[in-house]
This record gives sequence, structure tokens and C-alpha cells, in this order.
Amino acid sequence: MRTLTIRRPDDWHVHLRDGAMLQAVAPATARQFARAIVMPNLRPPITTTAAARTYRERIQAALRAAGGDALASGFTPLMTAYLTETIDPADLERGFDEGVLTAVKLYPAGATTNSDAGVRDIGAITRVLVTLERIGMPLLIHGEVTDSDIDIFDREAVFIERVLAPLLARHPGLKVVLEHITTSDAVDFVRSGPANLAATITPHHLHINRNAIFAGGLRPDLYCLPVAKRELHRLALRAAATSGNPKFFLGTDSAPHERHAKESACGCAGIYNAPVALESYATVFEAENALDRLEAFASEHGPRFYGLPLNTGTVTLERVPVTVPARLHGNDGAGEAVELVPFHAGETLAWRVP
Ligand code: NCD
Ligand code: ZN
Ligand code: ZN
Repeated sequence: MRTLTIRRPDDWHVHLRDGAMLQAVAPATARQFARAIVMPNLRPPITTTAAARTYRERIQAALRAAGGDALASGFTPLMTAYLTETIDPADLERGFDEGVLTAVKLYPAGATTNSDAGVRDIGAITRVLVTLERIGMPLLIHGEVTDSDIDIFDREAVFIERVLAPLLARHPGLKVVLEHITTSDAVDFVRSGPANLAATITPHHLHINRNAIFAGGLRPDLYCLPVAKRELHRLALRAAATSGNPKFFLGTDSAPHERHAKESACGCAGIYNAPVALESYATVFEAENALDRLEAFASEHGPRFYGLPLNTGTVTLERVPVTVPARLHGNDGAGEAVELVPFHAGETLAWRVP
């Protein structure tokens, strides 16, 4: 059997949710990753150091309930704060200094799931950006404009031109991660930008183009934001992820929604890929003849950008076919069950993470 041993990876963009959903999904992330940047778009959003601290405790409690101390102590949730126009920069700075907060997340209001409390006027957050730039705290960005007259497939490229490029020009020292990039425009912009600009790439945007969402009928399980684009963009993302360029690193954007919420008249955006994340990335790297670069993408580029130590343990992937279940069921132990459709549902992947 062929195997591939790499340094233990981290997930630089994940949604762990709360309550029964947290209980259902957090173990999958903690089994594969040593650390994860946890998104703050809960309802209500995590906007203070105090809220991030108690959310972190709920994550650790969920892991202890699912897999005991071994699972909980082997995983470090890296917390983020949700940027609003009224957020307190002094609280962010304290949270960063105390090691509670790792980064701040910018959602343009209305751009994606639970983004209503996000930013409408970029000018209103200048004080926060000045603070982040001064203390070296990364700003993570959902990079899409929200104007209804901009075609949904153009919203990332237009955001880069109208919002991101001017923002970087105003704050040249700000550490920025453009999250879940989906276009060749984003690849080019990040590649040619300064060293303090990087990007995460999801497994699903490496696997699917926009045709997949409509293949044989509407496929809600493949709907996420930013929405998958044309094939030429998928190919650019695959080239970037497997290039060895340290500006690109792993961020799954695993974004679970209950099956009924996805398969509804107004289905939620988000793809749940945590249970098969590494397997999914490995399939792409193998197809691109770049398995020797998986470790850097998954385990080295992220921590170096964030200024954090590399993990010390390893994980061994086995080249054994695994069929991904069509449905997953989580239970919080108190009788509340959640039903999820994972990414790659019903498909067979070539790699297994034991
Ligand atoms: C995410 C979610 O469900 O929270 N959804 C998604 O489609 N990616 C939000 C986000 O990351 O934009
Ligand atoms: Zn997003
Ligand atoms: Zn996300």
C-alpha cells in the first residue's frame, strides 16, 4: 500500500457553528487538523474577546464530549472576531495580546451566510484597520461586492478592484488573507501582491466548476459562496494550490447547514467538507502530480504567514479507496439530531486518512 506522511496540517478557514451542529461537526475537523481558524459568523456574531473566549470553551467541551481529552487536547481552535462598524479596536487588541483572538474577519454586509451585521461602509472601519496594521493582527476577508447589479460570477473580481486594492494601498502593512478564492483574477492579484497578502483555497473550488451546480438538475449540496466559477478559474486555482507558492494555503471553508436548510426553496450557501478534507485535497494534488507539495500547502505556508510554529506531529494518508457516505447524522446527546450531506457524497476517493 502506498502511503504519504506529512506534518500535521491546519485548517485556516472553518465554520464549526454552535449547539447541536457544533457537536456534530467539530470532531471531524479535530481529527484531521491540529489547529483551525474558526469563523465568527454565528447568530449573534462573535464580536468581542469575551464572546470568543466562551465560544472556544464550547468548542473544547464539544470535543471532550465526542472524543474525550485526547481529541480536545490535540486540537487548538484559533478564534476570530467578526468585524462590525461599531466594534471596539481596543478590545480586539487586548484579545490578540491575551492570545484569545488570532484574526479579525471582514464580511461585506449581505455577501454571505450570517453577514447582515457586517460592514456596509469600508470607510467606517478605518480605526480598526489602523490598529490591526499596527499590532500585526491578520484581517481575513470574504472578498465579494454585494451590489445587486454586479453579476454574481463577477463579484470577487470586482471586489478586488474596487475594495481590496485601494484598502491595501491605504494600509500597506496590513496582513490580509483573501479567503476561499475562486477566480484567476484573485490568483493573479495575490501572486503579484506584497508578502503580507495571502489566500486560502478550498477543496471544493479545486474540484468543481459552476457546471457541477446544475449537472442533471439543481445540486444544492454544491452551492456555496463565493459560487464556483468557470473551468478556467478552477484550473488557475489548481495551479496556484500546487505551485509551492507560500501565499496559497489550505482553508476548507467547511460550512455545514442541515440538509433541510440546503434542500429548500431558498437553500443556504455552504459546503460541508470537513470529514473528507485531506482526502479531497490529496486527490487534487495527486492528479496534478504534486503530492510532494501537499505538505507545504497544508502544513507550512499557513503557520508561516500567521507567524505561528509548525506542528510537530505527523499524519499518514493511505492510498486506499474510500466511499463517502451519502448522508451523515450527528447527535448532540440531548436528542437533537442533525442531518448533513458531505462534499463528495456517494463518490469514491483514492486516499484515506485513518
Ligand atoms: C459560509 C457559511 O455558511 O457560513 N458559506 C459559504 O457558502 N461559504 C460563509 C462564508 O464562508 O462565506
Ligand atoms: Zn466567506
Ligand atoms: Zn467560510
